[in-house]
Amino acid sequence: MNPRYIALEGIEGAGKSTVARLLGRALESQGHDVVLVREPGGTPTGEAIREVLLHPDGVVAPWTEAMLFAASRAQLAAEVIGPALDRGAWVIGDRSVYSSLAYQGGGRELGIGEVAAVNRAGLGGVWPDLVVVLDVDPHTGLDRQDDADRIGSEGVAFQSSVADAFAAMAADDPQRFVTVDASLPVDDVVEAILKAVEQRW
Ligand code: TYD
Repeated sequence: MNPRYIALEGIEGAGKSTVARLLGRALESQGHDVVLVREPGGTPTGEAIREVLLHPDGVVAPWTEAMLFAASRAQLAAEVIGPALDRGAWVIGDRSVYSSLAYQGGGRELGIGEVAAVNRAGLGGVWPDLVVVLDVDPHTGLDRQDDADRIGSEGVAFQSSVADAFAAMAADDPQRFVTVDASLPVDDVVEAILKAVEQRW
């Protein structure tokens, strides 16, 4: 079976959650079984880890952060994403392993390869097939952010290095990545993603 796991990625304020919902609806209206997931979280264990990761007063060292994201994700892969793909559903992820590669690998400077290795160990081959980067200028993104969590309040230099990491990964892996201008009206963003989906599958 052809696994269809689409990850929506980007820095703060790119509008991923709205786009995920609309994309899910569009794919459902084409008759597909669609499962929406968000990271960190998406399972009881993952939501508990999310609390630790994002609490504004938390003190979390960079590798602790990387491993907690990986742990939440491993649970989501085992409990939700893997089984959904196995039964033929489409999965839309509001963030994915690529957030860890960009935020922890790039933003926290732990190294994209190192962070990928830690994640790969826990994912059992569950990995996004198509990664959509919603591209927004870091200043605009921070202005659009609803409420800043511990990582979202890192400031514009951090957001820029995360955006650079997404751009570098997209350039390295054009088969898997598509970049969409997130400043477009949301319907146009969804339309562009549907076009990429059609090309991919
Ligand atoms: P999220 O709740 O998705 O917030 P947003 O609305 O910004 O998308 O993500 C919470 C924060 O966690 C966000 O600042 C991005 C960060 N993050 C990482 O640093 N690494 C990761 O692997 C993931 C999934 C998120």
